[in-house]
Amino acid sequence: MVQLLRFITACLLLPVIHLGSAQSTTSPTPTTSGANAGDFVRAENGRFMLGNRPFQYIGTSAYWLQLLDNDDDMNKTLTDIASRGIKVVRTWAFNDVTEIPSDGVWIRVFHNNGTIEINTGENGILRLDRIVRVAKQVGIHVLFSLTNNWFPKVNNGTAFGVPVHRRDNSLPLDGTNLPRNYLSNDFGGMDTYVRHFHPETNSADLVHDVFYSSQAIRDSFHDYVKTIVKRYKDEPSVIGWEAANDPRCNSTLPASGVCNPQTVTTWTSDVSTVIKDNDPNHLVATGDSGYYCVDCTKVYPYVPPPPAPSMRRRSAHREGPLTRAKLLARDEDWKRRNLPPPAKKRERSTLGRMIRARWSAPTESRRKRQSNEFGSLFDGSFGVDTEDLANIPTVDFSSFQYFPDQNSYGTVSTSSATSFDQVVQSGIDWIEQHAATANTYGKPATLNSFGIVSNVTSNSYAPFNSSSVVQESGVGTSQSQQVSAYNTWINTAIDSGVQGIIHYQWGVTNIASSSSPALTHQSGVGDSSTSTTTFASPNDGYATYDDAIKSTLEAGAARVDIKNAGGVAKRTLLDL
Ligand SMILES: *[C@@H]1O[C@H](CO)[C@@H](O)[C@H](O)[C@H]1NC(C)=O
Ligand SMILES: *[C@@H]1O[C@H](CO)[C@@H](O)[C@H](O)[C@H]1NC(C)=O
Ligand SMILES: *[C@@H]1O[C@H](CO)[C@@H](O)[C@H](O)[C@H]1NC(C)=O
Ligand SMILES: *[C@@H]1O[C@H](CO)[C@@H](O)[C@H](O)[C@H]1NC(C)=O
Ligand SMILES: *[C@@H]1O[C@H](CO)[C@@H](O)[C@H](O)[C@H]1NC(C)=O
Ligand SMILES: *[C@@H]1O[C@H](CO)[C@@H](O)[C@H](O)[C@H]1NC(C)=O
Repeated sequence: MVQLLRFITACLLLPVIHLGSAQSTTSPTPTTSGANAGDFVRAENGRFMLGNRPFQYIGTSAYWLQLLDNDDDMNKTLTDIASRGIKVVRTWAFNDVTEIPSDGVWIRVFHNNGTIEINTGENGILRLDRIVRVAKQVGIHVLFSLTNNWFPKVNNGTAFGVPVHRRDNSLPLDGTNLPRNYLSNDFGGMDTYVRHFHPETNSADLVHDVFYSSQAIRDSFHDYVKTIVKRYKDEPSVIGWEAANDPRCNSTLPASGVCNPQTVTTWTSDVSTVIKDNDPNHLVATGDSGYYCVDCTKVYPYVPPPPAPSMRRRSAHREGPLTRAKLLARDEDWKRRNLPPPAKKRERSTLGRMIRARWSAPTESRRKRQSNEFGSLFDGSFGVDTEDLANIPTVDFSSFQYFPDQNSYGTVSTSSATSFDQVVQSGIDWIEQHAATANTYGKPATLNSFGIVSNVTSNSYAPFNSSSVVQESGVGTSQSQQVSAYNTWINTAIDSGVQGIIHYQWGVTNIASSSSPALTHQSGVGDSSTSTTTFASPNDGYATYDDAIKSTLEAGAARVDIKNAGGVAKRTLLDL
């Protein structure tokens, strides 16, 4: 695989360099200098800054970092990540259980007598301390999410009750019997609160969005948030807080009839205020998936900034909010050009022509049906209005995600796009749309996770709303298409000014010690090695253990290093 990949440098110069100084045609040695050890990452004029340098970055995700038992394994994992030039790792700052488990990590327990406790022990909150401590030593930043939208319950035939070991830990790991904490959606989260605070409610009547509306639940979550953010408020190696991963009206528990985007916006506004009140040092983000609601009434209506002659060029070119008219115009454009749409710029046409193979869509059911003329990404049907969220005064940067295996990102007439070219192009459009949105609201945009499942790992693929692997072997992109797609999206994000570009997700092998059953050496699930003495990080179909993807991230990181240092970063293209 690796030998097939050859990175060539195309003679494409960046149109815009986001620096006040004169453009340099040389490429300064990549460096993180310009910052002192005590500096916190800041958000200024739509960019991240560290010290006196811009801090655009390539990141990766590893929700499972808290499972690592000792500093050496943490050091090895974070050093491995940092060695690729990656500057930020996104991970979970929570682990909710309903009974104290006999093994592994837990951070907050919701006892069935109604009491809630934090685990202050070595297998508890000290695990988060370790992440922060070692990240600081290794020179990497941590982006913590404070809870998760997703916590699907295994349906084992009982009407109610979330077993502490949600899954049966008995081996073999066959995709349905995954150990606790193996999947990103198995660390508790919103539905743990809903079930705990409504023990009397019949399971069938529980609704997910009670998490946002119940005062008791909000108070309890705010207590947790205060505990965590105060603990790390003086740690510059934390880049910031995400209120939640992918908050929306529904999860495995359905949405009530009254949940709408304003529900999630108001909740996020409250949480971000709690964070700011208790930790004024760090940046706050929503963590949402980036869905729009063009026709929604806003909690925080857009106010155009007053003309400021000293403002930088990119600030002066704000597009304004996404509107019905803009979406319709874009759809007309796609139709006029006859699918797949030709790329808008020369370099993209070049890329587009290189990608010939078709991406086989696994099943039609994976694609969301559109609920009206705009499709569910733009009509608020997820309960998310990414513009209203970005415009919350106490939110510092906007979020979006890109997971084409789990959603269709096409516009009106293209939502059934199935070719690989269209998936790549939809990603380009989605990224550029979000860069424009963030620019409109004057905040840095962060692609807080993105991934596509390759046919090599599709037999481990578990969607975020699922408690088990969906067992589809050999579907998805080829591995070289996956590399090519990541390369395209990363470069698109860099060039459109997206400030944080976070891959989902990192994979490591050779972990020396583990008390968590979720770190496994089981062949075929995570690591393909047969070692019985070392462990591998979990694989939900997105984990990348090998060099191909890591090299792609590294190439992107090298480009942003040059840009951050004031140089002209040439775009690398993949020569397939
Ligand atoms: C991390 O590991 C590297 C390589 O083994 C070593 O040089 C370094 O001292 C370690 N750092 C810490 C903080 O343990
Ligand atoms: C609730 O249950 C837990 C676990 O059994 C126990 O440790 C705790 O003391 C109980 N609290 C009260 C108030 O009953
Ligand atoms: C199903 O979950 C319940 C609730 O925790 C548990 O008591 C029961 O043993 C589980 N049944 C099976 C077949 O795993
Ligand atoms: C989520 O909620 C929306 C609106 O309530 C609904 O249209 C959609 O089908 C739901 N999605 C899932 C996966 O339940
Ligand atoms: C997950 O969501 C998809 C739609 O996005 C739906 O088709 C599927 O049934 C859901 N799976 C579970 C286990 O809820
Ligand atoms: C993945 O797809 C490529 C291209 O279609 C094919 O050559 C390869 O054999 C596939 N691999 C698997 C494991 O299905």
